[in-house]
Amino acid sequence: MLNFELQNPVKIIFGKGEISKINTQIPKEAKVLMLYGGGSIKKNGIYNQVTDALNGYNYLEFGGIPANPEYDILLEALKVIKDENITYLLAVGGGSVIDGTKFLASAALYEGEEPWDILANGIRTEVGMPFGTVLTLPATGTEMNSGSVISRRSTGDKRGMGGPGLFPQFSILDPTVIASIPKRQLANGITDAFTHVLEQYMTYPIGADLQDRFAESILNSLIETGPRVIENPKDYTVAANFMWCCTMALNGLIQKGVPNDWAIHAIGHELTALYGIDHARTLAIIAPRHYQYNIETKKEKLAQYGERVWRITEGTLLERAQLAIEKTEAFFQSLDIPTRLSDYTEQYAGTAEKVSETLKERGWVALGERKNVTPEAVKIIVEKSY
Ligand code: NZQ
Ligand code: ZN
Repeated sequence: MLNFELQNPVKIIFGKGEISKINTQIPKEAKVLMLYGGGSIKKNGIYNQVTDALNGYNYLEFGGIPANPEYDILLEALKVIKDENITYLLAVGGGSVIDGTKFLASAALYEGEEPWDILANGIRTEVGMPFGTVLTLPATGTEMNSGSVISRRSTGDKRGMGGPGLFPQFSILDPTVIASIPKRQLANGITDAFTHVLEQYMTYPIGADLQDRFAESILNSLIETGPRVIENPKDYTVAANFMWCCTMALNGLIQKGVPNDWAIHAIGHELTALYGIDHARTLAIIAPRHYQYNIETKKEKLAQYGERVWRITEGTLLERAQLAIEKTEAFFQSLDIPTRLSDYTEQYAGTAEKVSETLKERGWVALGERKNVTPEAVKIIVEKSY
C-alpha cells in the first residue's frame, strides 16, 4: 500500500426531510447567496423546502447555472457576491451547480486580476468562502470532495480546480430528490459513479485489499441498484443506496494508498468541451477503448474485477480481462448509454488529433497511473472510440 494522508471535513446530513436542517448549519449572521440551475428545483418542491429553511436569514438567490457550469455566467454571480457582501454560499443542485459554487467560493477570495487563472494555472484553493450544498442529483461525488470542473464555451475549455478550501462545510443528501430526475440523468449518474470507482481501482495490484474490496462493493451495489433506480426512482431504499454509492465513489476514501488513473476523465472532458456531450457519456465512450489499449498493464486488475464483480472465472488472465472490458461496455449500453462517439456527433473525424493536440498544448506529457498514456496514445484511444 502507498503512503497517504486522509482528511475529509464534510458533514453529511443524510435522509428524508433533512433539507430543513439547513438552518442548523449556516450561521445566523451570514449573508447568504443561494445558487441553483435551470429551474428543476422549482418544479419538484426542493426550492420551497430550501427557502422555508432559509426563513429569517438575510439571503439572495442566483439561478441559471447551466450543466457544465459556464465561466461567463459564474462571473455574473461573482459580481453579486462582491456587490452584496455575501459571506456564505448555498448550492442547491447537481454537480454543475455545486462545482460552480466551488469556483465562486475560490474566486470570491482570489486576489488576482483574472479568476480564470485559478483554472488555467492550476492554483490550489487553500481557503475559500464557506459554503454548503443540497444535492439534487447523485452522480459526481462533488458534495463530499474538494474538486470542481468549470467550462468556458468561448474558448472551448473545460478545466479542473481544487484544494482543501473547497470542501463543502455540510451537504444534505435527501434521497427523495431522486424521484424527479429524468431517466437520462439517472443513467448518467450511475455511469459517472461507476467510472469514478474504475479510475481509482483499474490500475495494478498494490496489496491494498480493503481499498479493492470497498471499490468492488460500490461497483456491485451500482450494478444492483442502478437499473432499479431507473425503473422506480420513487423507491426510497433503492434511491438511498444509489445516492450513497455515488458519494462514496468519489469522496477521497477509495483512492488513498493506491495508484490512480483518471485518463478517462481527462480525455472525456475534451469531448464535452468539443461537442457538449454529457460528462458521463464521454466516459462510456472512452473507458472501453482506454482499457483495451492498456490491457497489458491493467490485466491483473481487470481480471480481478471480472471475477469479483462480473463472476468471470473461466479462461486465461488475458481472456478474463478482455471479457471484463466487454461486460463494462455492455453495462453502460444496458442503461441506454451509447458508447461510440459517432452515436453523438457526425463531425467526429479529426477529433483524435484535436484532443491529442490540446493535451500537448497544456504540457501534459502523459496520463494514467504509469504515465504511459502519451498524446500519441490518446490519439489512438479516441480514434478507436469513433
Ligand atoms: O439545471 P436544472 O434545471 O436543475 O436541471 C439539472 C440539469 O439539467 C437536472 N437536475 C438536477 N437535479 C434534478 C434535475 N432534474 C430533475 N430533478 C432533479 N432532482 O439534471 C441536469 C444535469 O445536472 P448537472 O448538475 O449538470 O449533472 P451532474 O450532477 O452530472 O454534473 C455534471 C458536472 O459535474 C462535473 C462534470 O464534469 C459536469 O460539469 N464533475 C464534477 C466532479 C467533481 N467536482 O468531483 C467529478 C465528475 O467526474 C465530473 O467531472
Ligand atoms: Zn466523473
